[in-house]
Amino acid sequence: MSDSVNTPNGDGAELSVEDRIAAVRDAALAALSAAETPDSLQEWRNRYIGRSGEVTLLLRGVGSLPAEQRAEFGQAANRLKNEVEAAFDQREAEVKAASGPVGAIDVSLPGRKPTEGRLHPITQTVREITVAFGAMGFQTFEGPEVELERYNFDAMNIPFDHPAREMFDTFWLDRVDEEGDRNILLRTHTSPMQARIMESHEPPIRVVVPGRCYRYEATDASHEWHFNQVEVMAVDEGITFADLKGTLYEFARRVFGPERKVRFRCDFFPFVEPGVDLAVDCFNCEGDPACRICRGSGWLEILGAGMVHPEVLRRAGYDPERYTGFAAGMGVERVAMLKHGIDDIRHFYINDLRFLSQF
Ligand code: DAH
Repeated sequence: MSDSVNTPNGDGAELSVEDRIAAVRDAALAALSAAETPDSLQEWRNRYIGRSGEVTLLLRGVGSLPAEQRAEFGQAANRLKNEVEAAFDQREAEVKAASGPVGAIDVSLPGRKPTEGRLHPITQTVREITVAFGAMGFQTFEGPEVELERYNFDAMNIPFDHPAREMFDTFWLDRVDEEGDRNILLRTHTSPMQARIMESHEPPIRVVVPGRCYRYEATDASHEWHFNQVEVMAVDEGITFADLKGTLYEFARRVFGPERKVRFRCDFFPFVEPGVDLAVDCFNCEGDPACRICRGSGWLEILGAGMVHPEVLRRAGYDPERYTGFAAGMGVERVAMLKHGIDDIRHFYINDLRFLSQF
């Protein structure tokens, strides 16, 4: 055969260069895929591409070929060399990756600090409020955010033509009942839970109900179209306005600090009689006209409250001659803003970590 070359180990077998190249290639690739450890990879490297490796010798042997064959077989041998070297790099990477994370970890490096999550400031405030009432024997309940008109308004002594409905402009669901009434809405306050709880429980009742509420509001520094409230209610025989005052005073002391003074003023809500609003004295200043929390008034209004209206008790199936109760409702964002001196309610809902990570 004209295109022949001695095998590198000189065993005398005469193979065509093409066959020789193909044989070395097959053996090299098979041995490579069988190599599974760094040691066997090193052995493979010595055997095939080391200084006297088979591929290396093959390349060297090209020099002893007749001149007219050298170019062609030189190129073929070079291609083989490149191919097995590339295959080696790839296999080496695979073996490294398969050796698992233990091999990949530099144990002398300091650990990476995991990012620590935290509760949203509103969730924290809700919990603080429910814990303060919990310590006074109030149970926490939750209720539906999609509410029937009947509970949101009628049960709360706000009949269809009552002007108070206007204060609660809200989102109605696009659903009409058999009578053609649209009677489902996103609740405007947590007060409907007063009726739901009275209907499903026997006195004595002591509950707090945190939850989201919705109103059709133009958003500004102190208004959002959705916000959180906590409703408070106690109903039993013999509950008086003194219980209301004592409970709310204790709540303000726990949430705003032991020094707080409390101010009750008359206010009107259709579902209580008498109705009040409650303020605590400003914890930030002593009547400083430039105080950005109380704006110089010295007082911070935090909630509406009152004695549960006899009509609300009657509608829930309770005898108002026998049972009395008090109720209160507060805006959680307002409590959080006052506690932390936050000047814009929108900060809570724009998901800016620079704000949120301060709490
Ligand atoms: N539901 C009222 C509102 O959203 C707040 C309120 C006032 C709740 C007085 C009460 C209450 O339980 O007694 O404006």
